[in-house]
Amino acid sequence: MSVNVSEFGSLKDGRIIHKYTLQNKNKVSASVITYGATLTEICAPDKNDISKDILVGFDNIEGFVERTDYQGVIVGPYANRIGNASFSIDGVQYKLVANEKDVTCLHSNGEFNTAVWDAEVIDDSCVAFTYVSPDGLNGFPGKMNVSVRYSLNDENELKLEYFAVSDKKTVINLTNHAYFNLGGYDSGTILDHMITINADKYTPVDSFSIPTGEIADVVNTPFDLRNSNRIGDMIDADCVQLDYTGGYDHNFCINGYNGSVLKAAEVTEPESGRTLEVFTDLPGVQFYAGNFLKGDLGKANVRMEKRSGFCLETQFYPDTPNHANFPQCTFDAGEEFRSITIFKFSVK
Ligand code: GLA
Repeated sequence: MSVNVSEFGSLKDGRIIHKYTLQNKNKVSASVITYGATLTEICAPDKNDISKDILVGFDNIEGFVERTDYQGVIVGPYANRIGNASFSIDGVQYKLVANEKDVTCLHSNGEFNTAVWDAEVIDDSCVAFTYVSPDGLNGFPGKMNVSVRYSLNDENELKLEYFAVSDKKTVINLTNHAYFNLGGYDSGTILDHMITINADKYTPVDSFSIPTGEIADVVNTPFDLRNSNRIGDMIDADCVQLDYTGGYDHNFCINGYNGSVLKAAEVTEPESGRTLEVFTDLPGVQFYAGNFLKGDLGKANVRMEKRSGFCLETQFYPDTPNHANFPQCTFDAGEEFRSITIFKFSVK
């Protein structure tokens, strides 16, 4: 195991952004920059032991600042959407910035992913990123201390450990928004990838992509991905849920949620054999098929076309603060949020 530190670039205001690269003995590596505590690169070998970068995103800081669709970033304090950009705690209403369609708050208006985080090398397999979120920013109550630890081992597991604590009672929902293309970032769409999601249920949405509150069965819908389906097979099926979102962009309720780390999903790219397994202790995972990617210039000037990457964002369900029937993510002042997500790489 090793950690390498280098300069990634600098912001217009002169702040220098550093890159930390974790490397194991099996040609797996992961790079994270201090801007947004963002995963910029993951290299993993295929069935012929050829290692390739499988993250869709940028190779320069300007891309992350000017053209981001949240590629690789840490999202917070509340990942995903909050309906009508408002929620209440103990009878007090909090109004958030409505950054989507002037109605919804999406990804906390980009707070965590546009912050410059502090980084500390913990050992030769682990780097910790920390950030302090000011009280009231974008409408969220409380000053929050946040830390995300990235570590890699020789079992090809990239582990993300999240810690957060606020000085006021508030909602906390943190995720990583990596876009994967297991054929390589420059290998076209992800429609031929095979996906399995361990979820009997999902949360249908309205036309603003806000959950209706229903926890629906996946049986006989395009959301039944329990037995290895080609992503492209049903993504454009005649289904109002897919019409609202332009393809898969939904929260799946992970079977057996009990706070321990469970397997949420597995994806294989048949040609290379590269396989990603996702584990989490959270109740949900957003499967987003990159439907809104629109051909912006990415790494090596390759255009990030529609559906050229997919995300598996481990999370509390979207809009949880407005749905008492969802697993709750409101934390008392001083109460610690802790969570683990593991991305494991192998070949099939
Ligand atoms: C999330 C959402 C998508 C989209 C992307 C960013 O994953 O679920 O609808 O907004 O972020 O483009």
